[in-house]
Amino acid sequence: MPGTCIIGLQWGDEAKGKIVDLFTREHDIVVRYQGGANAGHTVVVGGEVYKLSLLPSGVLTPGVTCVIAGGVVMNPAKAIEELDELAARKVQDFDNLLLSDRLHVIFPWHFAEDRAMDRNTSDGENIGTTGRGIGPCYRDKVGRSYAVRLGDMYRDTFPDQVRHIVTEKNRVLASMLPAEEFKPLDADAILREYRAYAERLQPYVTDTTEFLLTAAEKGKRILFEGAQGALLDVDHGTYPFVTSSNSSGVGISNGSGVPGKYIKLVMGVVKAYSTRVGGGPFPTEQDNAIGQRIRDQGNEYGTVTKRPRRCGWLDAVAVRYTARLSGVDSICIMLLDVLSGFDELKICTAYEIDGQRTTVFPSHVDEIRKVKPIYETLAGWQEDLTGARSMEDLPVAAHEYLDRISQLLNLPVELVSVGPDRAQTIPVLAGSSLSV
Ligand code: IMP
Repeated sequence: MPGTCIIGLQWGDEAKGKIVDLFTREHDIVVRYQGGANAGHTVVVGGEVYKLSLLPSGVLTPGVTCVIAGGVVMNPAKAIEELDELAARKVQDFDNLLLSDRLHVIFPWHFAEDRAMDRNTSDGENIGTTGRGIGPCYRDKVGRSYAVRLGDMYRDTFPDQVRHIVTEKNRVLASMLPAEEFKPLDADAILREYRAYAERLQPYVTDTTEFLLTAAEKGKRILFEGAQGALLDVDHGTYPFVTSSNSSGVGISNGSGVPGKYIKLVMGVVKAYSTRVGGGPFPTEQDNAIGQRIRDQGNEYGTVTKRPRRCGWLDAVAVRYTARLSGVDSICIMLLDVLSGFDELKICTAYEIDGQRTTVFPSHVDEIRKVKPIYETLAGWQEDLTGARSMEDLPVAAHEYLDRISQLLNLPVELVSVGPDRAQTIPVLAGSSLSV
């Protein structure tokens, strides 16, 4: 069974990092294939907290090869910072990291454009990007004229390429920014900085598409680590309030180069409630004391940006849609412990739009904005779940909550997470490959 995928089914921050870390030991290779340093992932091992945004969560497991594939956009300074931090904490040496020569590199102009563009959104609501230059870098990738791939940085043409792009970007930024905010980019300074990054990263750079195809053909076990969540998918999410890559299951092959025939198991990661960071519609949002309570109990603040996350009830309409879209086989239900202490819990089971009931997730943002969620109310529980280690340790109401989610999604529950540590995980599915 070569390919397993882990996909967030909401708006990101579903605690995928923990799941990837748990399943990494069953695999030879872990692959990040889309997004960039906008994707904060937290992994807790033996009480030690590791916060990563670019390197795959798999780097915490020795003996596993970690790949950052061609579909990722990379800020090289961030990659080096995370490598240095893990080396300082003696996690492991990094002979086993591979960076695709096809991946696109984020440059200072991308940060400047991200800040300028987000402020300029026309319909009054900002996307609220993470400001990491992700969208502008993907835009240049598709536009091709001003893009730099990692492999380009080792070519004699690199200085001319940067000088040409800087001339053009200075023109664009001057037109986007108020005069007092515009600081022209200095091509020579950028070249010095990026040559140093290129030198430092050179040992890791390779053709990861060829590496992964060969590995898949040989039956190596590959774990694909999705970033963000499927509702932020650029094609199938709550467009335009999305990220700029395919963060649902549809992105695995285009980002990694590994065809779907090698992907045998897709696990969907679902928070026991919903959160969203940044702008955009969020039908089950609780902009009230309930939302604040979830935020407090779940410490719902962004890993990357530290922004308070918007919180609300679980939306089974949205998650059923993203699970189908991503070809999910089983689900991991995360942060169940956060819901302790509520007298009752709600799950959105259908939408009302213009007086019509539907269970179809709308394709247009204007329809999503009109949604009135139809809720089912379930009993809550008062017990602290963080010490639960098996299903028998969970109260009846928690069982009923999990069963209802499984029923609504028509998917089996693979595991339940009741805290950040590896140990705070309850395997559920008989025959699960998880060994906690
Ligand atoms: P960008 O990816 O920085 O362009 O941001 C676009 C939208 O995606 C914003 O609403 C961000 O808050 C959201 N976003 C991007 N990455 C993540 C993530 O890893 N978790 C949650 N939201 C994210």
